[in-house]
Amino acid sequence: MGFGPIAESLNAGLIVLTAAYRGERSGCLVGFHTQCSIDPPRYAVWLSKLNHTYRVAAVADHVAIHFLGRHDRDLAELFGGTTGDTRDKFEDVDWVEGPHGVPLLSRCQTRVVARRASYIDDGSDHVCMVCEPLEIESQLFEPFRLLDAVGIEPGHPEGEQRRVSGRDRPDDRPQ
Ligand SMILES: Cc1cc2nc3c(=O)[nH]c(=O)nc-3n(C[C@H](O)[C@H](O)[C@H](O)COP(=O)(O)O)c2cc1C
Repeated sequence: MGFGPIAESLNAGLIVLTAAYRGERSGCLVGFHTQCSIDPPRYAVWLSKLNHTYRVAAVADHVAIHFLGRHDRDLAELFGGTTGDTRDKFEDVDWVEGPHGVPLLSRCQTRVVARRASYIDDGSDHVCMVCEPLEIESQLFEPFRLLDAVGIEPGHPEGEQRRVSGRDRPDDRPQ
């Protein structure tokens, strides 16, 4: 039994979450995300504990959430199919440093700069980061969706064991 058919039926739009900490930038493709409060506004994102992005975002105070459009498959491949453990993805994409030092992907005009308001680890393989939006830029767009990402193999595959690489940072514990 798995959630696969339900997830495919929902066919959620995909985002790229980026963060930086002490000069190290990171970002990954994310399918697990949703608005989770209206007043105050909150947005929740779930990151795999395997990901380089998890280790950076867990210690960063702020993150950026970029909503991919239908022509952004190349960004999905870069951020979902490769890992910051072995390369700097930001060498291959136009980006600028945004508020609070978060890396902003220049092409993605629908995006949110947010403060990480809380961090929930229930012992599963993903952690939930509840984010307080600080700046929202939005326009109507046609999302790049889960089914558009067919063929992109995650840089950190499901079931992979946590491994230590040269790009690992000390395991600062999140607040
Ligand atoms: C369609 C798709 C959806 C994904 N959804 C998530 C997700 O919700 N959360 C997550 O942490 N990783 C998700 N991933 C996996 C990461 O994007 C992927 O392993 C990435 O290479 C990790 O990069 P990093 O190690 O630089 O953080 C998804 C990958 C794909 C292809």
